[in-house]
Amino acid sequence: MEIRRLLWLLVCLANFEERLCAKFVELPNRWLTSVPEDIAPDVTHLYLNDNDITRIRQSDFNDKYPDLADLHLYYNDITSIESGCFKGTIIKLINLRSNKLTSIPDLHEVSNTLTGLYLTSNEITTITFDELSYLTKLTILYLSHNHLTTLPNIAQFMPSLNELWLKENPLECCCSNVWLKQIRTGFYLQLSDFPCKHPSGWNSTTWDDITEDMILRQPCQASSPTPRLCATKES
Ligand SMILES: *[C@@H]1O[C@H](CO)[C@@H](O)[C@H](O)[C@H]1NC(C)=O
Repeated sequence: MEIRRLLWLLVCLANFEERLCAKFVELPNRWLTSVPEDIAPDVTHLYLNDNDITRIRQSDFNDKYPDLADLHLYYNDITSIESGCFKGTIIKLINLRSNKLTSIPDLHEVSNTLTGLYLTSNEITTITFDELSYLTKLTILYLSHNHLTTLPNIAQFMPSLNELWLKENPLECCCSNVWLKQIRTGFYLQLSDFPCKHPSGWNSTTWDDITEDMILRQPCQASSPTPRLCATKES
């Protein structure tokens, strides 16, 4: 028994097999309305999905779980996440799918470790550049099934990002979104079959049939009180 434990430790330390050292805590479907306080401090993968959690507070995670790398909060009722949450963790993946967030949460405390952010099926209406640009390690971002009409050119300004999911958003195919047509090679962009909700005349046109030029000539209006054209490049 002793020998076995020693061997296990050695393998673990040598990091031959990541799963062997992982500590999974799984608490789905418990009717939880907040994050429990009595979670094992050495947790690495935490599953709190399918509960009734409504908010995340600093005291839920800060300086409590130094090994926490994967956090699953999908299918809850989360409307807010306090600024400054997740301090002292090493979170790489946060799954917040199917909650009620209306904006991108503040994730500054994990900006050096976070590589995957799942925000599918929330109620996000707008995104500013500053809400995402500090996530310099982020490689994959899921924003499908939200209420986005426009969004800043994150493909260009987030160097690690190489996968962006935007299906089922009421996108306005107007000049400020033209960057969606200028995606660099190797970047994976996932859109709906008919991604343009506006202008309505394009709502049954495929993305391939909508050219960069068409979008450039389209003023943005759904998201602003008065139609505005983007500045045109002078040559
Ligand atoms: C597309 O737009 C037309 C109006 O031009 C509207 O009647 C129709 O319901 C829209 N279709 C979809 C799928 O949104």
